[in-house]
Amino acid sequence: MRRDIVITLEGISYKKKRQYLLNQIDGRINKGDCITLFGPNGAGKSTLMKIMAGLNKPSRGKRSVQFHKKNPIGYVPQQIALFDGLTVKDQIKYYQKLTKQTSTDFVEVMIKELGLKDILNKRINQLSGGMKRKVNLAVGVIHQPEILFLDEAFVGVDLATKYDMLKWLNHLNAQGTTIVFITHDWYVINQLKPSMWILDQGEMLDQVNWNAVPYANIKSGSNALKKMFDVDLSR
Ligand SMILES: Nc1ncnc2c1ncn2[C@@H]1O[C@H](COP(=O)(O)OP(=O)(O)OP(=O)(O)O)[C@@H](O)[C@H]1O
Ligand SMILES: [Mg+2]
Repeated sequence: MRRDIVITLEGISYKKKRQYLLNQIDGRINKGDCITLFGPNGAGKSTLMKIMAGLNKPSRGKRSVQFHKKNPIGYVPQQIALFDGLTVKDQIKYYQKLTKQTSTDFVEVMIKELGLKDILNKRINQLSGGMKRKVNLAVGVIHQPEILFLDEAFVGVDLATKYDMLKWLNHLNAQGTTIVFITHDWYVINQLKPSMWILDQGEMLDQVNWNAVPYANIKSGSNALKKMFDVDLSR
């Protein structure tokens, strides 16, 4: 069965100060895909994600999108983007209004599934780092985007919080939300079972399913990339 294409990338390059940060990246994202951009620090993952999300324009190449909703994109940035003085409840309400999310059912389920109930009346500046990550995720998906981008959304999150976040993301993905995420955490990868787009020094080396990682073509990769694959994947 052919699935709807959501985003196509053709020959995407990105240049900054005469240096190519991305070089000739091709890829296709279908509806319901779960994809991780995987590679060492500085590989170009965040840069590519911003181009995918339409936040950066490529220097060369073409990004085509086929969205159906008016507000199709959810983007959870590497840096926490929340209002310090607002309570979690008000924060959620604010984004609900901003994105015109009228389904209170969805928001209620999200609050329950992400375990936000106990912290609804806390202000953002009273939350721990991990709790902030949870709220950061919640406001990124509040409008039920077609495609959700997560740039290192699990940094500093304990295993219980990670469990809630991953369960929620698996649920959204099973409902048809397309997910593209960046992480350096094999636990997260093993739980979400994504296709892996392997990036190194601005090049796409291979695209493999998570369970075919031992067969990924990383021969031409940097030492940093090779070390990333040289870990025990059984845990
Ligand atoms: N505005 C900029 N100007 C110049 N160089 C930049 C700029 N933004 C990023 N870079 C460089 O581009 C490369 C890719 O950066 P990017 O942030 O996309 O990497 P990344 O794979 O997300 O890394 P990390 O895992 O550390 O988040 C890096 O070498 C970085 O130094
Ligand atoms: Mg990054």
